[in-house]
Amino acid sequence: MKKTMLIGLTLLPLSLLADMDRCVSCHGVDFEKKALGVSKVVKNMTESQIKAALDGYKAGKGGSKKEVMMKEVNVGVDTDAMAADVYNEIHTPGFTEPDAEFIFKKRRTVRGLFKIKQALKKADPKQDSQKIFGQIKSFAFDLYTYDPALRKAVNARTTKAQPMKFPTILDRVAAAKTGTDHSFTDEALLKCQIDFVTLAQTISLNGAEKLKKKIKPKEKHHLPQTADEAAKALVGTWTQICYPTGKPNEWASKKVTVTEDMHAKGGMQFYSDDKCTKQTKEIKAFYTFTFGKVTKGDDGKEAWEIDKVIGKKKKKVYAMLRFAEANRVIISGATKTHDGSSPEKRKNHFDASWEGCTKQ
Ligand code: HEC
Repeated sequence: MKKTMLIGLTLLPLSLLADMDRCVSCHGVDFEKKALGVSKVVKNMTESQIKAALDGYKAGKGGSKKEVMMKEVNVGVDTDAMAADVYNEIHTPGFTEPDAEFIFKKRRTVRGLFKIKQALKKADPKQDSQKIFGQIKSFAFDLYTYDPALRKAVNARTTKAQPMKFPTILDRVAAAKTGTDHSFTDEALLKCQIDFVTLAQTISLNGAEKLKKKIKPKEKHHLPQTADEAAKALVGTWTQICYPTGKPNEWASKKVTVTEDMHAKGGMQFYSDDKCTKQTKEIKAFYTFTFGKVTKGDDGKEAWEIDKVIGKKKKKVYAMLRFAEANRVIISGATKTHDGSSPEKRKNHFDASWEGCTKQ
């Protein structure tokens, strides 16, 4: 059996991987020997006993020859991952060396999760959450971007926001880390990575939900709020190009320029074809607008009362105008009579299909 394990993988540089044969020289191929005549037979130890022994060496404790092992288990080594590797190695008959790609992915995942776990343990939820969330999201993104299998397996669409406290996050990271320690196949490793990336997605979505509450929609304020603002917003050149008038075989284009004193000048061309090439007539527009108050159209949505004084004869008609957007207005039909106040007495119909005029 070839003895190339993942041991000590967490914080050792990649180049040390092939060095794992050194355990074998003292402990035997299957950890079946008493190393240097003094150690226990590691083969007969449980995983938690192995981990406890390694933690002991890390803390400077052990038997008469502890110095030998203290060198092996230097400060950087993650004993969880190391114990899992040793245990798996001992208990997997015919253990075949994982390929370099798997070793890289596992080592990288353990290393990242180890760092995050340590940081989470120390973190103060009040002060450090942004930093730690950033760390989690960034590492999840790295894993996700690197690995096509992970990208395929993670389904972002089913992840939902779900408020989580630090201890819960720590539990989930620790679970993904332990799972990774015990992963010796691509499938097992992938499952742990999915769990971690899903956790990161939940944290992202939680952040978005929080921000949503802070960022209030501002749309309303783009639209005029007072008659003065409405008048100001109407200044400019408004066009609507080649639209069906609603009458059979009739299309029209219009262009009207409104100046600051609310004079409107322009015209409307009528056509008999939907490409607006065959013009049938033209009507010049010349009138003055006066804004009234803002009420509602027949569809219950906001619209302004507006009076039009038309042409040289100064014929007065009553209509309603809606700012569908800051640069798009729709005008209802006009009527010659009204009682001076109620929208019922002026034409207030807005057809959902009307596009209205836009300003450039
Ligand atoms: C130079 C010889 C040597 C090498 C190399 C070596 N060990 Fe050890 N190991 C020992 C000795 C000696 C002990 C007992 C130390 C003591 O007195 O506590 C020991 C103890 C252990 C123990 C605890 C067993 C007990 O007695 O409680 C474990 C687990 C272990 N080694 C794992 C490893 C792993 C994994 C590697 C490779 C990364 C490794 N060792 C490399 C010599 C070695």
